[in-house]
Amino acid sequence: MNAITSASAIRTVHVPLGERAYDILIGPGLIARAGAEIATRLKGRKAAVVTDENVAPLYLKALVASLGEAGIASAEVVLPAGEKTKSFEHLITACDKVLEARVERNDYVIALGGGVIGDLSGFAAGIVRRGVRFVQVPTSLLSQVDSSVGGKTGINSRHGKNLIGVFHQPDLVLADTDVLNSLSAREFRAGYAEVAKYGLIDKPDFFAWLEANWKAVFTGGSARIEAIAASCQAKADVVVADERENGQRALLNLGHTFGHALEAATAYDSSRLVHGEGVSIGMVLAHEFSARMNLASPDDARRVERHLKEVGLPTRMSDIPGDLPPAETLMDAIAQDKKVKSGKLTFILTRGIGQSFVADDVPASEAISFLREKHA
Ligand SMILES: NC(=O)c1ccc[n+]([C@@H]2O[C@H](COP(=O)([O-])OP(=O)(O)OC[C@H]3O[C@@H](n4cnc5c(N)ncnc54)[C@H](O)[C@@H]3O)[C@@H](O)[C@H]2O)c1
Ligand SMILES: [Zn+2]
Repeated sequence: MNAITSASAIRTVHVPLGERAYDILIGPGLIARAGAEIATRLKGRKAAVVTDENVAPLYLKALVASLGEAGIASAEVVLPAGEKTKSFEHLITACDKVLEARVERNDYVIALGGGVIGDLSGFAAGIVRRGVRFVQVPTSLLSQVDSSVGGKTGINSRHGKNLIGVFHQPDLVLADTDVLNSLSAREFRAGYAEVAKYGLIDKPDFFAWLEANWKAVFTGGSARIEAIAASCQAKADVVVADERENGQRALLNLGHTFGHALEAATAYDSSRLVHGEGVSIGMVLAHEFSARMNLASPDDARRVERHLKEVGLPTRMSDIPGDLPPAETLMDAIAQDKKVKSGKLTFILTRGIGQSFVADDVPASEAISFLREKHA
């Protein structure tokens, strides 16, 4: 593909956040064009590229070459792959390497990888020299449609996931859709759960489009680019309306209350459950829970489950290999994740497909009896 046809295949989603505004470019060949895209928009001439051991052999050389062609010198930081990398230990390594590379405030930290690398290097970019520029080159579907957009960065604590971090918006996001071809089918499906989530939050037409076109999204090409762009637009709209999650941004957690409890219950063991799979089961549970409270029709829950099952995602707690702790333990995880105010919990519930809302008065007793029923 020559430069002109390649440029025309690129979709741009703008995130209008005033002086923190930025573009998300989505399409094929963006790693090869990364240096040029960065150099036309930003001034820095030094970068520290942070990546993981799986992604480095596949794409690091091409990214560094592209930066070099645009006159940007880069240092490389390769961390182990996996959720455990979101730790203080690896954050310190990343910060030291960024300083060693003499990255100044107008230079960049560039995240090349999935959400783990994006979250950790975004945090490093936010705190080194009180903030340097940050470019995301997300390589997993999940990171292209979710974690690379919106400026939440951070690491995990022994007290829980993502508890230590800062808001630090990227200056540019380059989502190269070609790289998704090397992602495992399981990781692709897990990212797809978040794509479907945007339809279920407030875009019923998008959910219906996914039901009809999901195979083309999985195959690649324009339908995939379309789905990623629609997802980034949906996330950008929510982030712009509520950058620091004082209200509506919580809708992005649809399916996540149950999902996070299941992730905790499986000790974040990715051989049993990865995040997007937990979200898939969690979204079905959120629709079923809404139906049980007479807020939505049980047909909607069945429709959500049918679609997620069809793409190959788990939809039931019993789909998780191995034993789960009792419903009471899952409930403890939920209560820990949330502020429980006088026996009431906050959940994202729904009145139907694409009609989610933040409910902050859900009786804990309803949640526990629902969980007991589902767990049986
Ligand atoms: N900041 C946010 O707003 C936000 C939102 C959602 C999720 N997250 C975080 O994102 C993380 C999950 O992200 P993830 O699912 O991308 O996980 P990940 O970064 O662990 O990537 C999944 C796996 O795929 C590999 N991989 C990535 N790209 C690849 C490619 N192109 N080819 C081959 N292998 C590739 C990785 O090495 C890893 O093994 C979690 O830590 C979660 O908390 C953050
Ligand atoms: Zn998620």
